[in-house]
Amino acid sequence: HPPKLQMEANSSWSQANCRAKGGAPGFKVAILGAAGGIGQPLSLLMKMNPLVSVLHLYDVVNTPGVTADISHMDTGAVVRGFLGAPQLEDALTGMDLVIIPAGVPRKPGMTRDDLFNINAGIVKTLCEGIAKCCPRAVINLISNPVNSTVPIAAEVFKKAGTYDPKRLLGVTMLDVVRANTFVAEVLGVDPRDVDVPVVGGHAGVTILPLLSQVKPACSFTSEEINYLTDRIQNGGTEVVEAKAGAGSATLSMAYAAVKFADACLRGLRGDAAVVECAFVASQVTELPFFASKVKIGRNGVDEIYPLGPLSEYERVGLEKAKKELAVSIQKGISFIRK
Ligand code: NAD
Ligand code: LMR
Repeated sequence: HPPKLQMEANSSWSQANCRAKGGAPGFKVAILGAAGGIGQPLSLLMKMNPLVSVLHLYDVVNTPGVTADISHMDTGAVVRGFLGAPQLEDALTGMDLVIIPAGVPRKPGMTRDDLFNINAGIVKTLCEGIAKCCPRAVINLISNPVNSTVPIAAEVFKKAGTYDPKRLLGVTMLDVVRANTFVAEVLGVDPRDVDVPVVGGHAGVTILPLLSQVKPACSFTSEEINYLTDRIQNGGTEVVEAKAGAGSATLSMAYAAVKFADACLRGLRGDAAVVECAFVASQVTELPFFASKVKIGRNGVDEIYPLGPLSEYERVGLEKAKKELAVSIQKGISFIRK
């Protein structure tokens, strides 16, 4: 069935505008960094998403090849490629959702914060383009360090006068995907039946799985809690080490990014009860940004849920997470305000 779209007078998209060639109405989505390790499988999967009518693939290299390749898939979305800074504005104009996996990945021995010096500038430039060309778009920010790049994006949008905190979401979905997988392994159940909230941020101890709130309800020994928390917090490093210098998670990340983008599109369409974890502007703690469960609706983040009752282990973890997060957030803010 074609997706049922509900119109809104001042929505940034319209059914007439985004009707694909002979296809169903849907959303216009841009991927920035589309030729990269995440970008390519993410582009492939978004081309398969029936909610997408137009897919813009932007990168500073290789987009002609990736676009030609993906455009041959017999799915509804019309694909267009954009190469290099002079084409950024055309890539962004009219977009409803912008997904950003642009930037360098880690090598063994590096922290995500070691990527700051290169990726902060990339995110700044891309967000300046968004502020100019599609200020009402919802942003899914993947580029690391997410704990700093989301505050950078917010500051760029504030400076441009376009900031809408409901529309800026740092992607922490991979932490949830990993948590569901590892918890399901321990419980001996299908990971599709497991839901683990992961809050805080997206780096080391800031990744805080709430194992006391796993659904379906279950209990773990303290060894299991230590093992699971450590494995979820270091899932990214596990992949970086296994890839031995060839980059970080790309395939599981593309899967997680599409799961998250699809949730955003369903929310924008007006579906009820679309709830996922994301790193957003938040009042759940004293920090200006925090990842927790959020409800996604027609205007982006509709509601941010409180953390709920925490175990003693999680309360200690939360204090550690907040300490590191505060520094990373401030580093992002200072990068733009300096
Ligand atoms: P990659 O090097 O394979 O791809 C990055 C792409 O970005 C390249 O194609 C590159 O040309 C492009 N790029 C660089 N500068 C650009 C610019 N100014 N504009 C547009 N594109 C630009 O890296 P990857 O493995 O795809 O990872 C990308 C980023 O995602 C990294 O920062 C990585 O740490 C992060 N990441 C985040 C998560 C998460 O959970 N949020 C998970 C995995 C990776
Ligand atoms: C991940 O969690 O896999 C990503 O943040 C990439 C990384 O550097 O670990």
